[in-house]
Amino acid sequence: MNTENCPPLLNTSQMTGDLGGGNANKREMENQAFSSLTTSFAVCLTGTKKGCGIGGCGACTVMISTYDPVSKKILHYPANSCLLPICSLHGTAVTTVEGVGSTKTRIHPIQERLAKCHGSQCGFCTPGMVMSMYALLRNHPEPSMEQITAALDGGFEPTCCQLRGTGQCCLDQEGGVSSSTKSVLFPLQRMAQEQQGRTLVFQGERTMWISPASLRELLELKTKYPKAPVVVGNTSVGLDMKIGGVHHPVILHPDRISELRIVNNTNNGLVIGAACRLAQLRDILMKAVSGLPEEKTKIFCALLQQLRTLAGEQIRSLASLGGHIVSRGSTWDLNPVLAVGNSVLNLTSTDGKRQIPLTDDFLSGCKNADIKPNEIIVSVLIPYSKKDDFVSAFRQAERRKNALSIVNSAMRVLFKPGTNVIMDLNILYGGIGSTTVSARKSCQKLVGRQWNEHMLGEACRLVLGEIFLSPSAPGGKVEYRRALLVSFLFKFYLQVLHGLKILDPSKYPDLPKKYMSALGNFECRPPQGRQVYQVNPEQPPQDPVGHPIMHQSGVKHATGEAVYCDDMHPIDGELSLAVVKSSKAHAKIVSIDASEAFKVPGVVDVVTASDVPGENGTKNEKAFVICVGQIICAVVAESDIQAKRGAEKVKIQYEELEPILTIEDAIKHNSYIGKEKKVEKGNIEKGFNSADEIIEGEMHIGGQEHFYLEPNSVLVVPRGEDNEMDVYSSTQYSSNVQELVASALDIQSNKIMCHIKRVGGAFGGKITKPSYFAVIAAVAANKTGRPVRFILERHDDMLIVGNRHPFFGKYKVGFMNDGRIVAADIQAYINAGCTPDESEMVIEFIVLKMDNAYKIPNFRVRGRACKTHLPSNTAFRGFGFPQSGLFAETWVTAVATQTGLPPEQVRDMNMYEGLNVTPFKEQFDATNLRKCWTECLEKSEYYSRKTAAEEFNKQNYWKKKGIAIIPMKFTAGFNKTFYHQGQWTKHQAAALVHIYKDGSVLVTHGGVELGQGIHTKMLQVASRELKVPLSYIHLCETSTTTVPNALITAGSVGSETNGKAVQDACQILRKRLEPIIQKNPEGKWEDWIKEAFQESISLSATGYFKGYVTYMNWEKEEGHAFPYFIFGVACSEVEIDCLTGDHQNIRTDIVMDACFSINPAVDIGQIEGGFIQGVGLFTMEEIKVSPEGKQYTLGPDTYKIPAVCDIPEQFNVYFLPNTRNPIAIYSSKGMGEAGVFLGSSVFFAIRDAIASVRKERGLPENFTLNSPLTTEQIRMVCADDFTEMIPRDKPGTYKPWDIEVA
Ligand SMILES: Cc1cc2nc3c(=O)[nH]c(=O)nc-3n(C[C@H](O)[C@H](O)[C@H](O)COP(=O)(O)OP(=O)(O)OC[C@H]3O[C@@H](n4cnc5c(N)ncnc54)[C@H](O)[C@@H]3O)c2cc1C
Ligand code: FES
Repeated sequence: MNTENCPPLLNTSQMTGDLGGGNANKREMENQAFSSLTTSFAVCLTGTKKGCGIGGCGACTVMISTYDPVSKKILHYPANSCLLPICSLHGTAVTTVEGVGSTKTRIHPIQERLAKCHGSQCGFCTPGMVMSMYALLRNHPEPSMEQITAALDGGFEPTCCQLRGTGQCCLDQEGGVSSSTKSVLFPLQRMAQEQQGRTLVFQGERTMWISPASLRELLELKTKYPKAPVVVGNTSVGLDMKIGGVHHPVILHPDRISELRIVNNTNNGLVIGAACRLAQLRDILMKAVSGLPEEKTKIFCALLQQLRTLAGEQIRSLASLGGHIVSRGSTWDLNPVLAVGNSVLNLTSTDGKRQIPLTDDFLSGCKNADIKPNEIIVSVLIPYSKKDDFVSAFRQAERRKNALSIVNSAMRVLFKPGTNVIMDLNILYGGIGSTTVSARKSCQKLVGRQWNEHMLGEACRLVLGEIFLSPSAPGGKVEYRRALLVSFLFKFYLQVLHGLKILDPSKYPDLPKKYMSALGNFECRPPQGRQVYQVNPEQPPQDPVGHPIMHQSGVKHATGEAVYCDDMHPIDGELSLAVVKSSKAHAKIVSIDASEAFKVPGVVDVVTASDVPGENGTKNEKAFVICVGQIICAVVAESDIQAKRGAEKVKIQYEELEPILTIEDAIKHNSYIGKEKKVEKGNIEKGFNSADEIIEGEMHIGGQEHFYLEPNSVLVVPRGEDNEMDVYSSTQYSSNVQELVASALDIQSNKIMCHIKRVGGAFGGKITKPSYFAVIAAVAANKTGRPVRFILERHDDMLIVGNRHPFFGKYKVGFMNDGRIVAADIQAYINAGCTPDESEMVIEFIVLKMDNAYKIPNFRVRGRACKTHLPSNTAFRGFGFPQSGLFAETWVTAVATQTGLPPEQVRDMNMYEGLNVTPFKEQFDATNLRKCWTECLEKSEYYSRKTAAEEFNKQNYWKKKGIAIIPMKFTAGFNKTFYHQGQWTKHQAAALVHIYKDGSVLVTHGGVELGQGIHTKMLQVASRELKVPLSYIHLCETSTTTVPNALITAGSVGSETNGKAVQDACQILRKRLEPIIQKNPEGKWEDWIKEAFQESISLSATGYFKGYVTYMNWEKEEGHAFPYFIFGVACSEVEIDCLTGDHQNIRTDIVMDACFSINPAVDIGQIEGGFIQGVGLFTMEEIKVSPEGKQYTLGPDTYKIPAVCDIPEQFNVYFLPNTRNPIAIYSSKGMGEAGVFLGSSVFFAIRDAIASVRKERGLPENFTLNSPLTTEQIRMVCADDFTEMIPRDKPGTYKPWDIEVA
């Protein structure tokens, strides 16, 4: 065998991007022969980000260029670098975002357009988007909108980024694709040819990676190392190693073996090499489908259907056909189709060749049907279908694209020629058990039967009898999964009937028209959109305020030059930190044994509470085990991997105690945080007595993960003098980090310098928790005297940080027959988790905002925060209003249902009008609420579309449309809370502005750039006030050294309060300059500044804004709790599939009372992003918790946030014209959070569609829906014969997989 030990790993592949030369990186690479590419980029190149590490978010996308020995072409494809072992890249070119364009050289048109068209907010995943688009353009210089949309399927989050419904591709605009598209810089082809004859061996510390040059060598190696995996895409093995802790001492990589890449058209079908990637398979099948007769390609079409939604393009470009078949996950989508299609595996080994069928026995791992340890799959025969064949594939996932199926299936029937008599039937399901399962016995019993309704009924009964799903099955959703078994079967039945009719129209009856709607799936069409705002026509042209100025860091986001905490270059002597977390929800710690951790090479120390010299946290968050995920101690080591290995070795012994996990449990145990909060107006008893009717109901609203793309990160650097420390943190609250670190180290705050350049998304999840992470890192740095970096892994971040509060509400509402609500009595609970955190504030917000847009004369709302043994829930965009608003709209909808009136009519008649007071006696003017309502009704063409939807619903039995229009009264800012311990809340803010002798201006303020564009707006403010162009002004970071005691950046008011401070500082400076300007009015800015300096005029000023004064007197139940109100209305239309529960967001129109926006592009981005985050909250995102209190959903694999396919096909945002807000700077309003609640319009549109289903079927119309309104809930509430026939288990007779904590 021709083996060769390769030189240092980084030299094995040439990269088009500059790898730089971080020391830590080299150290890491030498230790980690098998590490993923992201590990290296994370330190050396700032562009490629790590958002999840498991292929689910797309932030790490790079382009791989490789020579294909079969086509003899260089192929380019996008790939998730977090799953790319470095060894697999030998002989390939890797282009990172740095290789595409940079501000130092030239930016690429993709980068330019993304930045100029406001395509980034926090910017953390923007380089990944750029790389996806770049790879697409390398292969398709003129891509279609569909291709562009598909290229962005790979996990990017439209919540935070604005690849949004403009309908216009940035590349369509002037300039188009530049010819500057760089070519790969070295002769890949020559390299590949040179390497053809050589076997490559990479020997790491723990793993040997062998890439044989020939099939013969591969077979010899497989005989020698039968347990070694044959890794192609590494998307399955890689995850087993990363998440499952599996270790492989030897790995075989057959990528250069041409026999495994063949594509042959044979008489029987297509023979496709096992190393062929799924993206290539798609292209091959598409070509075959377009070139062959339809009857031969039915299996190919079914495969193509699954390939359209299987993962994202990055994964499809890596994952291989052979890897898919052999790893045979239960939810893998292609295997059931390949099996019903009678595919054949061509195997070979040193013993010779053989063929085995790809059957259900193979897929379930039956020993006698499996490949042998020394065999490999060379190729797969996918046969042509026959004339009398019917083949269909189905899948339903939590999200339409890039989400594993909940259940999938493939079905095939072969009829006796010219008849509808079943000759052969094959049905397979995925997602039911641990492997793909077959309804083999049922199929056998149905052979010989005619394809008619009797057969269908029998088939459903047989399948439900044969395919068993335990009520405790992992993954939960048991009844839904059972319902999908028969729903898919019914769809197949109709598809075949329809196919028979087409084959022989004279012989078979027409499918009833309204049943046709069961056929076909929703397609993801590229979103279109319109954004309408006003600019003041009298404004001087050089004044940037009110204009859609590009995000200050937009270009750097797109080039990857924008630096986040983890991108900072390693510091000499730097250590990495990993935490040891509680695995129990409620327990006493008996012992902590860290002795094994110290034995791990590279481990430097273990840090515990006893190492904290000062205060250990606030009195609210002392360290003891009261939830799963609680941090017990920390391990610091020379590298990240070593720290994690060390942490795994720490042994904790617990004495378990009974946990309280759900709101129901907490109520039972009287377990609360803080006192009950209540507001009441009118006379509730009298109100109910006067009502024509009274209804009561309940609702559960699940929590929500923040899912910012940048996980919590901190780097602490001791300065070595006077106990000074620099703390670089991804926090929304710089002064809290400073204060807590100082108090933990028992030193004064003036020694701790907290710096924040920018944060990769926060949404409230980086307010309280980053301070604790900083304290842990600072204590470790203090103990070791070395810099310490602590970057949370995605799963740790999701476990530790806490979520949006799960909510449970009860209502009693009295109303008149004409729809007027006269009394409402509301009880609200939230699951706070194990510590107070911000839960009191959240329940206060819920109580204060429960009226939403409605004037209820007699109104009482009470709220309690429940203390449980879950990770402490925390702030989240909207601070409880999305929950209370959804609940309010639920009881208003219930009134509409009960009275039989249209919901919009009940909303309209109960809505606030003109001058008003809230239930807590705060005055406000609802004129703009009414204006938004009228404008939205008109802009959305609500009534005509409602009529059209009703007409559609009459014609379609299995698909229904729904439409809803939802008003909103939201507030900016806070009332007195955790942050504001005085009697009043003052949203104070400060800024520091320097003018240098060359005329350049440096602005700093206390707000943090979280992606919401605060720095961009501050530059606009400074430009207007100083009357200098934006190009003169710079803003470099937020720091406690320049602005002390800054409040949190949250509550939608960060820009306006800090804006007032910047304005103040600039006005002070301008006033000082005024005499000089008057002396020389024709002079230039630079001249005036020089002159001012000569005249000893200070060119530095602090600006201060005392803040809005707000207060709330809970005893009197009155206050001025919020600085001002924000109104908005959204109208959404959806279509649902009653058989699967899937839904399509068709159109949304939002009218927002944004007044005079400082930057409409930024504000519209906030509204759109917030809206999509609300769509996720209310229709998709589910946090799953075990009966023991362990959160299951800890990454993008199990927790689905909306993707590009969830943006409404038509998405319009309008600013209400001619409105003013005298309170905020330049008459603006804070738009950071308001959009989230408007996502509920999709919830109510789905409800409307469901109501239409239930009405048609004679089912009760006063049904209960909880949030999120997932595919599961939609399907199960659209009850029909199929949901009737599934087996149901009596609650209490089994242990469920998950519990409802809301
Ligand atoms: C983020 C993400 C999303 C995903 N989404 C989906 C989805 O929506 N639907 C879906 O169906 N799947 C999905 N998958 C799973 C994906 O389809 C599989 O992981 C992939 O097909 C495996 O191929 P691979 O080449 O990466 O396998 P590898 O990880 O390289 O190998 C997997 C196994 O196959 C064996 N093997 C590979 N080739 C051969 C051969 N020629 N002969 C013998 N043994 C061989 C290896 O020994 C190993 O045991 C997803 C995966 C990820 C990471
Ligand atoms: S970091 Fe690679 S896909 Fe998320």
